[in-house]
Amino acid sequence: MSKTSFEPQKILFPMPVSLVVTGNMEKSNIVTIAWVTLLTSAPPTLGISVGTKGFSGNEILNNKHFTVNIASADIMVEADFCGINSGKDVDKFQRTGFTKLPSKHIPSPIIKECPLNIECELVESSIVGRTNHFVGKILQVHMDTDKLKDTEKPGSYIPEAMNPLIYMGGAREYRTLGEKIGDAYSIGKNLK
Ligand SMILES: Cc1cc2nc3c(=O)[nH]c(=O)nc-3n(C[C@H](O)[C@H](O)[C@H](O)COP(=O)(O)O)c2cc1C
Repeated sequence: MSKTSFEPQKILFPMPVSLVVTGNMEKSNIVTIAWVTLLTSAPPTLGISVGTKGFSGNEILNNKHFTVNIASADIMVEADFCGINSGKDVDKFQRTGFTKLPSKHIPSPIIKECPLNIECELVESSIVGRTNHFVGKILQVHMDTDKLKDTEKPGSYIPEAMNPLIYMGGAREYRTLGEKIGDAYSIGKNLK
């Protein structure tokens, strides 16, 4: 087997699709963001990468809060719509028909149609090139109860019900999760 090399801009990278909501219950916007990652567990933080040219970056800088809503494959068309239109031009809640639910700690709403929702307070920001790097402190996490076998245990998720939408960056295509193939932090013990 041999390897071939690419420029960093062409990297193939699998990412779950998130819908980031800014604003408040009355006036809010949705932006599709695939560049999201958990950063630390204590304190709980996550990072998102948001372009400086769009509507959402300034909203987050001004309001200092946002929600991250993990999209399921069932809402692929709406999620893509939010990634090819700007809040400068369209009301994305109105166009997608998504339902706003109030957050517990911040004015930005969560999206009912997303199985997993995360409330964040902006704690750090920096600009790299044409992108804002935002660090959000996670204040609250919500999950649909019908996506869990045991509502006390987030790990008891029902994969077919959660059905997260995966974006293959570099190939520009959407995929769904495959089968479970092993237990993390455990299967490695089988190495002979
Ligand atoms: C699958 C997908 C993933 C995207 N990921 C990001 C991202 O991680 N960061 C970003 O700034 N824009 C990303 N975009 C582009 C923005 O969603 C797009 O520029 C959007 O129109 C900006 O909306 P706004 O002006 O309402 O903020 C993505 C778009 C798609 C379709």
